[in-house]
Amino acid sequence: MAIRRAVASVDDVPTETTYLFTVRDTDSGEEREVILVEIDGRIHAWLNYCQHYTHIKIDKGSGAEMRGNALICENHGAYFESDTGYCNFGPCEGAYLNAVEIEVEDGVVYLTDDRYEFVRKGPAESDETDLESRSNYKF
Ligand code: FES
Repeated sequence: MAIRRAVASVDDVPTETTYLFTVRDTDSGEEREVILVEIDGRIHAWLNYCQHYTHIKIDKGSGAEMRGNALICENHGAYFESDTGYCNFGPCEGAYLNAVEIEVEDGVVYLTDDRYEFVRKGPAESDETDLESRSNYKF
């Protein structure tokens, strides 16, 4: 059974962008990033990596770009449904973001996923993946 670990207050999760934190993969020991997104009063958690090029981050450290309920990868314009993770537009159309298990109780978001341990609020330090690159897309 997973150890429940508080990762954020519900109030920390913005309504028009994402909240970023770092976990450690319990198998590989590597740091990975997770984003929280709030849609219609529910909070969802996804690994912070596009499904087109999976080293590309959706939230590059200052919140993901969003249009309505869609998370947008700025590199090539993929749109992901915030509540299902489904990519409904872009080069990886039909793919899904990788879900991370969380629970929300009494205004606190808990990480409950056996695959990950909470490390810190904010970006990964040992993550070699993309931090900055963006395409010419303007949103
Ligand atoms: S890397 Fe995300 S759409 Fe290409």
